Amino acid sequence: MTFHAAGESTDGETRGPERALALILLGPPGAGKGTQARQLVDRYGIPQISTGDMLREAVAQGTPLGKQAQGCMDRGELVADDVIIGLVGERLERDDARQGFLFDGFPRTIPQAEALDGLLSKMGRRLTRVVLLEVPAEVVVERNSARRSCPQCQETYHLLNRPPARDCLCDRCGVELVQRPDDHEDVIRNRMTVYGVQTSPLAEYYRRRGLLSEVDGQRAVDVVFGDVTQAVDAAQ
Ligand code: AP5
Repeated sequence: MTFHAAGESTDGETRGPERALALILLGPPGAGKGTQARQLVDRYGIPQISTGDMLREAVAQGTPLGKQAQGCMDRGELVADDVIIGLVGERLERDDARQGFLFDGFPRTIPQAEALDGLLSKMGRRLTRVVLLEVPAEVVVERNSARRSCPQCQETYHLLNRPPARDCLCDRCGVELVQRPDDHEDVIRNRMTVYGVQTSPLAEYYRRRGLLSEVDGQRAVDVVFGDVTQAVDAAQ
């Protein structure tokens, strides 16, 4: 992966704050949000803000936040809104978020979306685009069950569609891949239920404001990426 300075896209263009990208990737568990986000980071030179990755890091480090979040995550339930909103608020204060950001896995509830509206308004920002990756339930179960993740760099693989080059080792850092505790079928099904009840209403929330693009996430990663970037580019 090529890294670019914050705010500098692959074409070398630097964005001023008024043009800073503020993107959201929405979609059920295993829709491909993280997979697309890592490519979008490279293309647009903005940081990925994944609340799931932040929480997993806190769990791995045994911080108070990690201890508080672990039970919910293992059961496939959402962590409390105030905890998540606090985490995101702090993350947006970091320098690299000044010229844009991409949310992956946030917001997940209407109160989180309303809190984000408040945070962005304080920063003088507005959302550029919300992209909903659509995949049916059977694909969700299959993708999550076959996912293996790198505990170090968070890169994800799929045992059939995107296997690592060397048996169960991350291509980027050589660390042994693991299966996430919430990627077992009973928990996946609970995450899908939670998504349907608490997160899917966000599609209508953003559609009403003319911010939503719906993309068929069942196709090959690069084909999906083409549609996502088209939606983002058209919104700039
Ligand atoms: P989080 O980490 O956000 O999990 P998620 O939303 O369930 O999403 P995933 O990371 O499972 O999937 P993804 O869409 O990123 O798919 P991926 O690209 O990996 O959250 C985990 C937990 O943290 C939550 O359950 C909750 O407890 C807590 N949490 C996090 N944020 C929170 C919030 N805001 N509020 C409250 N609680 C929160 O792809 C999946 C697999 O498919 C991979 O194997 C990949 O290689 C493969 N794949 C991807 N794209 C394709 C494709 N196009 N074709 C074929 N295979 C593909």
